[in-house]
Formats: sequence, C-alpha cells, structure tokens
Amino acid sequence: MNADQLYRDSIADKELFWQQQARQLDWYTFPETILGSDETGYPQWFPDGMLNMCYLAVDRHVAKGYGAQVAVIYDSPVTGQQQKYTYAQVQQEVAKLAGGLRGLGLTEGDTAIIYMPMIPQSMFAMLACARIGVIHSVVFGGFAPHELSVRIDDCKPKVILTASVGIEGKKTIPYMPMVTEAIALSAHKPEHIVHVDRKLAGIKPAKGVIDYAALVAAFAPVPCISLPSTHPLYVLYTSGTTGKPKGIIRDTGGYATALQFSMTHIYGAQPGEVFWAASDVGWVVGHSYIVYGPLLNRNTTVVFEGKPIMTPDAGTFWRIISEHQVKIMFTAPTAIRAIKKEDPEGLLVKQYDLSCLRTQFLAGERCDVATLDWYEQHIGVPAIDHFWQTESGWPVLGLQRGVEQEPIIRAAAGKPIPGYDIRVFNDNGYELDAHHEGYLVIKLPLPPGTLTGLWNDPERFKRGYLEQFTGYYFSGDGVIRNEDGYMFITGRVDDVINVAGHRMSTAEMEEVVAGQPEVAECAVVGIEDTLKGQVPMALVVLKQGVTDPEQVPAAVVQLVREKIGAVACLKEVLVVQRLPKTRSGKILRKLIRTMIDGKAYQVPSTIDDPAIIEELQEQFALIKK
Ligand code: COA
Ligand code: AMP
Repeated sequence: MNADQLYRDSIADKELFWQQQARQLDWYTFPETILGSDETGYPQWFPDGMLNMCYLAVDRHVAKGYGAQVAVIYDSPVTGQQQKYTYAQVQQEVAKLAGGLRGLGLTEGDTAIIYMPMIPQSMFAMLACARIGVIHSVVFGGFAPHELSVRIDDCKPKVILTASVGIEGKKTIPYMPMVTEAIALSAHKPEHIVHVDRKLAGIKPAKGVIDYAALVAAFAPVPCISLPSTHPLYVLYTSGTTGKPKGIIRDTGGYATALQFSMTHIYGAQPGEVFWAASDVGWVVGHSYIVYGPLLNRNTTVVFEGKPIMTPDAGTFWRIISEHQVKIMFTAPTAIRAIKKEDPEGLLVKQYDLSCLRTQFLAGERCDVATLDWYEQHIGVPAIDHFWQTESGWPVLGLQRGVEQEPIIRAAAGKPIPGYDIRVFNDNGYELDAHHEGYLVIKLPLPPGTLTGLWNDPERFKRGYLEQFTGYYFSGDGVIRNEDGYMFITGRVDDVINVAGHRMSTAEMEEVVAGQPEVAECAVVGIEDTLKGQVPMALVVLKQGVTDPEQVPAAVVQLVREKIGAVACLKEVLVVQRLPKTRSGKILRKLIRTMIDGKAYQVPSTIDDPAIIEELQEQFALIKK
C-alpha cells in the first residue's frame, strides 16, 4: 500500500476510512453513525457505538487464547526488580481491583486520580477504572502537592490511588505526605485513598488509607461493562497559556480506533512483539503507548522505572532492549541526548546485542540532527521523529512505518498522518505555500482519538483551539512545509515550553514567582538548553526597599519546586531593574528569549523605552559567562 494514497483516502472520505478502521476492534455494538456531533455542534466519532477499553486491551486477548502471552514487563533498575505479567494475570488483577473500586462505591462516570510512580499498579489502576466506566486522571508523580490539589479541585475524584514511595535516582520520595498536603489545600475531599505499599524504606500506610493489595484480595472480580463510545476514558491535565492546567478529555471509541490504527500503520507493530515507550504514565505518551496502544494491539509493553543515564549507567536503555527483545522503541530526544553526553563514543552500546530493535521513534520536543546522527551511527536503526500533543492523543505528523518505508528527512517531523487535514496558515488565515513559516492548523473534524473538550471548561476549549481560525483546530505550534509534504516544526507560538520532554507553562511559573514577597514583577521564558531542549529562566524586578536581594533567586527557585515540582527545573533567576515592555505594558518575552539565546533579534517598534536593550544586553552577557 502507498502511504500517500492512504492519507488521501482518509481525507477524501473520512467516514468510510474510519468505519473500516473501527472494524479492527471488537465492539459490543458497532456504530451505525460514524461521525455525529455533540450538543455544541463539535464533531463526535461513533456516537452510537458501545465498547469497553479494558475489554479490548486485555480480556479479548485472553478470550482469544493469548492469556499466557506476557502483557507487561516491569523493569525497575532503581529497586533491582523485574516482573512479568501475562494477559491472564493482568485480567485477574484488574478485574479484582475494579471489584474493589466498585466496593468503595465507584460507578460509571465517577472520577479517580492516579498519582503513582512507574509501577505496574499504576497501569492496573487505569485499566480497572476503564473496566467499570470510572474516568481516570493520572497526575505525573513529579508534580508537587499544589499541582495535585489544583487537579483534585477540578476533577473532584472519589478516590486517589497512590503508592508509598517513588524513587528518583538516589532519592526516595514518600507520596503520602504529598497527597495529604494536596488534600488539605483542596476544597474537594476525596472519599478514599488507596495506597500501594511498596515495602521500601520502611514506610507504613497511614491510618485510614486503604491498602491496595488488601483491596484487590477482598473483592471478587467484576466483568467489563458496555460503555458508549463517547464515554470519557480519561481526563489528562496539561499546561496551557494560563496558570490553570487544562483537562483534556479523551473519549473511548475514537481513541481505541485511532490507537489501534497507529500501532499497525505508524509504528508497524505486529501482535506479540515487545513495544517500549520510555516515558511515564503521567504523560500522554504513557497513556497511549505504555498502556492502551500496545495492549490493544496485543504487544508486550515495558514499564520502566528509572532514568536512562543513572541506573546504573548510560547503557540502561540498551540493556533493556537487548534483554527483553524490544522491537520498537519510543522516547524523547532528551533521553538520547543525555545518553550521548555520557557515552559519546557509544562504548556502552557495544556491550549489548541490539539486533532485535527495528525502529526508534522520537517525539515530545524538537530533535536536533546531531542526536539523530549519533543514534543511527551507534545503534544502527532508523530514528524517526514524529509530532503530536496531549490534545491529539496520537501522532499528527510522522511516517507510516507499517505501510511504506518512506524516506526519512532529517529535521522533519514527518508528513500528515491519515485523518489530519493539515494546513499552514498566516495570521489572517491564508494558507501558505511550501517553505513559508506559519501556524499548524487542522481542518475540522479532527480524526478519532483527539480531544473532545476540556473538563469543566467548554468556553476555554473554544477560545483556546477553535476560535482563532473558524473551522480549524489551532495547534499552538509553528511549522514549515516542503514541496514533498514533509513538515518542520518551528516551535510553540505561545507561552508553553518543553523541558526535557515535559510540557510546562511559563505563565503558570510566572504566577508562582510573582508570589515571592520581594518580587514586584517577573517574566519567565524558555531558553535553549543543549540537554533538555529548553529550560525556564525567570527575570524578576524587586520591590523597593528589599533589604536582602541576594537571597531572592534561591528563594524563587525553592518556591517553584515547592509549588510545581522539581521537574519545572527553574534554576536561573536574574534580578533586573526593569523588564522590556510595549507602550501598552505587555512584556516582550520573545525579545528576552531571543536575546538570551544569542540569536538575531529585532527590537519591536512598539517598545516603550529602547534604552533598556543595552541594559539587558549587559546583564545577559554576564549569564553566559
Ligand atoms: N517524581 C519526583 N521527582 C521527579 C520526577 C518524578 N516522577 N521526575 C523528575 N523529577 C525531579 C528530578 O529528580 C529532578 O530533581 P532535582 O532537580 O532535585 O535533581 C527534577 O525533577 C528534574 O528532572 P528531569 O527533568 O527528569 O531531569 P534529570 O536531570 O533528573 O534527568 C533526563 C534528565 C534527560 C535523563 C530525563 O529528563 C529524561 O529521561 N527525560 C525523558 C523525558 C520523557 O520521557 N518525557 C516524556 C515524553 S516522551
Ligand atoms: P505534549 O502535549 O506534552 O505532548 O507536548 C506537545 C508539544 O510538544 C507540541 O505542541 C510541540 O510543541 C512539542 N512537540 C511534540 N513533538 C514534537 C516534535 N517531534 N518536534 C517538535 N516539537 C514537538
């Protein structure tokens, strides 16, 4: 099959195309309507179909005789543990945990927060929710209590599932104190806390907390229930352009159809093969390609608890690939850059037989050509960049590896994936020709699997994505297309930054920094970083009369760690006399960013006082030293 032809088919008759893809799943009721719309007129896929994601990901494989196949490999170099779970074992565990959640009073449409490290129980918790129609919201374990509390108040979970500790390098991080603090900060109080006792560091479950193992043991397994295709499988919060994270809503039927399609057509995965996405279940990559995608396609998925460079060394990825016979791998370019930095000559790579590996996929941030070159030189398999977002849930740009071995073009994030009718627009909504930079927009309807709205905030959904260009989804990214249809992402056009593949909002950080008592005003920008892609940097103007200005930067760094989490990585705080602004008072963040990055910049004609440029140049020169 020809990849371009498949793409054209998907755009020419969307309903026929996705009806055919939906047939790859086992529905309780196959949809008669392929494309409908919700009460606001927003497109909805398969609205009258009935299915269950947990059934498709687990039970149906057992029913078809694959119960003995390994579904999950848990590899945790930080604890020295490895465990394998067959599809039958996953079914047992998940069905009993679902029974336990039912026993706690949870029912279809309720919400549950999962705040856990990378252990298989986080995945079982997701599947158990899906089994009984409970909408899960996984919160990345690196977020601080304040971030967790914002999510608790927005999605109002009946239960929080957590674990005794997470392990970050040499640090052991107890979760319960963070959960307790988050609940204390929240107006909403969850009814139950379920806790996986990892039996590490001697931490005992707190009083009143339900032990996960006891819950699983106490309840009889429950079957999967039939749910409407439009039923929200999960809400996943992501950073936007304001301090408040956005709750991306994912449906069930559209998502299952899209993930199934992506596993075969984009990743080229055959059932039974080992597929490893080295990410975290707290991010969209984890939802789609650690949990649901590989299991839907009856692959074996790897749950990796560790860091690519520290456990025990920068050969960890290669050890795992070789030991578990990984065929397809997915990670963020940052991880490869970190490995390359530690092992530039690829000496650790040589210690392992990597002949099992077929393809490496990269996403989450821009990948530099030097990293791609290093990868291919030392690992000897193609490294394929592809582009997507929490909102899309699955790739928007990429190559269809399961369809045709299309040429890989360095620095391109691929071509439009079937279902995505992509255009490059200028500010006025005119479509741009090849080689002109513009906004990446997607003609509605978006394909199945993409967001169906924002939790509790339909207005923000419209404002943030649908109102910029009528009839199109606004991605927030800039792009250039070449004459062959390959697309080159030029970066976010808003206040969102990507730190080590983690999406962060500079606006959210600014809110925190502004809370430091000595700070009069501030700007946070993402500056280039050779390892993490981008890192945030704060410029702060102090209030009059601050007696001890030297202590402010360290206090600001600490405040951001406390409020957002260490993962925000705000390490540089620069005290300045004033910030560059337009005459109407808008801070010129883009100018600050380009000046610090040492790139060519133009001083906007709207600047209120051009003299500030010289002041800033002097200060920025000092940072580089
Ligand atoms: N729980 C608690 N703390 C966490 C955490 C978690 N789950 N994840 C990260 N942190 C902390 C780290 O311990 C670190 O704290 P420190 O400043 O006290 O040392 C801080 O947050 C920053 O972490 P990170 O950005 O991960 O930097 P790092 O130097 O520890 O590791 C990489 C760098 C490149 C190895 C790592 O970021 C990585 O593997 N990135 C790949 C990202 C990825 O998979 N993204 C998903 C999209 S595909
Ligand atoms: P997230 O929602 O965390 O997946 O982050 C999505 C954002 O990451 C996108 O809007 C892009 O800015 C960026 N991104 C993802 N993949 C790529 C890629 N392959 N190249 C460049 N940027 C990317």
